[in-house]
Amino acid sequence: MNIVILAAGQGKRMHSNLPKVLHPIAGKALAQHVIDTARGLSPEKLVVVYGHGGDVVRATLAAPDIAWAEQAQQLGTGHAVAQALPHLGPAAQTLVLYGDVPLTTAATLKRLLQAGKDGLAILTVDLADPTGYGRIVRDGAGQVRCIVEQKDATEAEKAVREINTGIMVMLTARLADWMSRLKNDNAQGEYYLTDIVALAVAEGLPVRTAQPDGEWEVLGVNSKVQLAELERQHQRNLAGQLLVAGVRLADPERIDIRGELKHGRDVAIDVGCVFEGRVELADAVEVGPYCVLKNVKVGAGTRIAAFCHFEDAVIGPDGVLGPYARLRPGTELGPEVHVGNFVEIKKSVIGAQSKANHLAYIGDAEIGQRVNVGAGTITCNYDGANKFKTVIEDDVFIGSDTQLVAPVRVGRGATLGAGTTLTRDAPAGELTFSRPRQVTLSGWKRPQKAKQ
Ligand code: UD1
Ligand code: CA
Repeated sequence: MNIVILAAGQGKRMHSNLPKVLHPIAGKALAQHVIDTARGLSPEKLVVVYGHGGDVVRATLAAPDIAWAEQAQQLGTGHAVAQALPHLGPAAQTLVLYGDVPLTTAATLKRLLQAGKDGLAILTVDLADPTGYGRIVRDGAGQVRCIVEQKDATEAEKAVREINTGIMVMLTARLADWMSRLKNDNAQGEYYLTDIVALAVAEGLPVRTAQPDGEWEVLGVNSKVQLAELERQHQRNLAGQLLVAGVRLADPERIDIRGELKHGRDVAIDVGCVFEGRVELADAVEVGPYCVLKNVKVGAGTRIAAFCHFEDAVIGPDGVLGPYARLRPGTELGPEVHVGNFVEIKKSVIGAQSKANHLAYIGDAEIGQRVNVGAGTITCNYDGANKFKTVIEDDVFIGSDTQLVAPVRVGRGATLGAGTTLTRDAPAGELTFSRPRQVTLSGWKRPQKAKQ
């Protein structure tokens, strides 16, 4: 089939400089959701009709399998589809989707395609309040006759609750002829795509309807209110899938997934967590409240306490992390590593059973196994121009408030005394410290305030 995605509308009610179809749901542009769903149906041709904010829309959504059709002036949905005609392939069916209706499922679209195999099919829903939508007009036998827009509808037609979602599939072979016969002599002076329904009926082609599984599948975004509502709906759907798959969520209403979340068995996630990009949580991982994880892999049995922020990191099994831990890109933690509060780690590899439990900065470091990094330890990896590496071998003990001025190496089993500023390598197995001798000035008095 061919798929045409209509994305030329401006979206005035968004009150935004960003074209409407680029506003995000789950961190991804509305139109990108539609494109991704479309791709899942393996179309021969995928055409996006663009207009408002054209350059930004094209640049943001660009992909080799997308053909672009410009609709310089928005003269109606029929006019929009007509712009796509030159790009269509010979495929039997052409499916029309809206770039601002992001959550339609592939399963629903497959039913619609099936219904439209030998003619035309419309995705419809019954709404309690159909105001504003095109109405599906049926004859006494229940056959679809035509679609009437709200502004052109009689009182009787306005009473119809079955509405046109706008999503439609039709025979490609008839499309060019139908487009050439559309007129704009209606209340809005637009070329309505919906008028092809009456044309198909007149030709005796079968016109059928299909329905989505949920109303949210066909809801469009015209305002920030609707954007927020669909975001919640989408997140609720994702949370529901996680629950069904066995993930324990403290509250399915308080989780945000902006990407892909893979999980093993017995995973538990507390409230307020945000997952971005690709996140993998192995068996029995626990994530505490208000954590942000972006492109992170977490090994089995690891516990993450509240308020952690991890990005582009790989965490081994049975780790104990947080609260308030920060892992920046390039962090790799081995098994049973502990990272405590206010510890920041960047581009560093840390071996099994090593611990940094309080207040530390570890950057560009290679840390072995069973190393204890004391409170307040800092790798001084940057001289203002270049970055240098710190190597800490197995079984090292680093006393509190130590600075390791890189490049520097601490040999296996070495101990660094508290307060050390290490500027040269520390030999294995020995105690190394740099510390001025402690002095006491007896009889010294604190300064007094001068009398007025
Ligand atoms: C359209 C349908 C209506 C349906 C409703 C569902 C027509 C004539 N009417 O109405 O039956 O109930 O959608 O929401 O088709 N677009 C363009 N170029 C244009 C006009 C629209 O690309 O010239 C795009 C818009 O960006 C949007 C979609 O087409 O994504 C629908 O446009 P919109 O103006 O919202 O359609 P309605 O008039 O509300
Ligand atoms: Ca609309």
